[in-house]
Amino acid sequence: MKLFDVYPLYDVEPVKAYDSTVVDKNGIEYLDLYGGHAVISIGHSHPHYVKRIKEQVEKIGFYSNAVQNSLQSELAEKLGKLSGYDQYQLFLCNSGAEANENALKLASFYTGKTRVVAFDNGFHGRTSAAVAATDNPKINAPLNKQQDVTFLPLNKLELVQNELEKGDVCAVIIEPIQGVGGLDEGTTDFFQGLEKLCKDNNTLLILDEVQAGFGRSGQFFAHQYHTIKPDIISIAKGMGNGFPIGGIMIAPHIKPTYGMLGTTFGGNHLACVAALAVLEVIEAENLIDNARMTGEYFLSQVNTLPGVQKVKGRGLMLGLEFDFEVGDLRKKIIYDEHIFTGGAMNKKLLRILPPLTIGKSEIDRFVKALNNVLVAEKA
Ligand SMILES: Cc1ncc(COP(=O)(O)O)c(C=O)c1O
Repeated sequence: MKLFDVYPLYDVEPVKAYDSTVVDKNGIEYLDLYGGHAVISIGHSHPHYVKRIKEQVEKIGFYSNAVQNSLQSELAEKLGKLSGYDQYQLFLCNSGAEANENALKLASFYTGKTRVVAFDNGFHGRTSAAVAATDNPKINAPLNKQQDVTFLPLNKLELVQNELEKGDVCAVIIEPIQGVGGLDEGTTDFFQGLEKLCKDNNTLLILDEVQAGFGRSGQFFAHQYHTIKPDIISIAKGMGNGFPIGGIMIAPHIKPTYGMLGTTFGGNHLACVAALAVLEVIEAENLIDNARMTGEYFLSQVNTLPGVQKVKGRGLMLGLEFDFEVGDLRKKIIYDEHIFTGGAMNKKLLRILPPLTIGKSEIDRFVKALNNVLVAEKA
């Protein structure tokens, strides 16, 4: 059987990895400044993570959600404590799209309404309601287009107010910093205004922290820069450092009933231990502070690079916007300089989403490499 060919692939095959280094099948080492779409949070193959998963799989790797699994409560406890959301409730699933799917469904159950407000350039995943709330018609099939979603520009509170006052909106879903869309973000006034409008109109505010969460922005959650408390927070990516796990954190006023949400694999023993190991390492190695400080260092180093129009993002969720499309630049950086970087919907944006463990020396290597490529291109 052939693979269903939906991914344009780079000609590189990683066979092992440690911390921020990826090694391909020819033994070439790459600096990973992309973390496989912002997934690697504590570094590849972190010894504590490997040990925790190995020890768990030797005991029990999976049982369904029909029996007790105290690892789930341990994870909820630890996540609540580190994120500052200890009064919230945790529902576990397997990916970012699934997290948003459950968040939107829960908002609809809670409010009894059906319409969703989402934002231009937003990305929330590729399944049913999540993809319908994603501003990209190319990945929405006719089936998905049946969902009732209104897209609005960021930072236009009056437009959100007009929609919510119509009374049929169950959820406003927003990324604290847009990932795939290209690192734009709302202002603090906008986020605080959304929080109030949602409260006033019996609409739930969903913060999609799938990419920005788990310390990447330099705070546990990027929305914490705006001192708001969403009704639901969706999480995935860095949560498992590569082990598939996602979840939603749910405000206490939203009450569960049996059967309301559910999944076979969600919250299995291995996934819980992976996420616990991630939190333990984030705490022990102060990775959130590191993300903030290394991000600040990055910002101080890249302004003078030729062709850079704008530097975007926070912590280690960063982007460089050039005055040209960066597809070829990314190829040169990977094949000639051996550094992984990312692209975005905005074709002129180079995205940097490294493990939260990197420091100044990795940034210096990147800046030097980028300079080499840019100067060689100009010559
Ligand atoms: C903000 C955001 N939400 C949701 C998703 C979907 O996550 P997944 O690919 O795990 O379904 C992504 C993936 O890039 C994302 O960036």
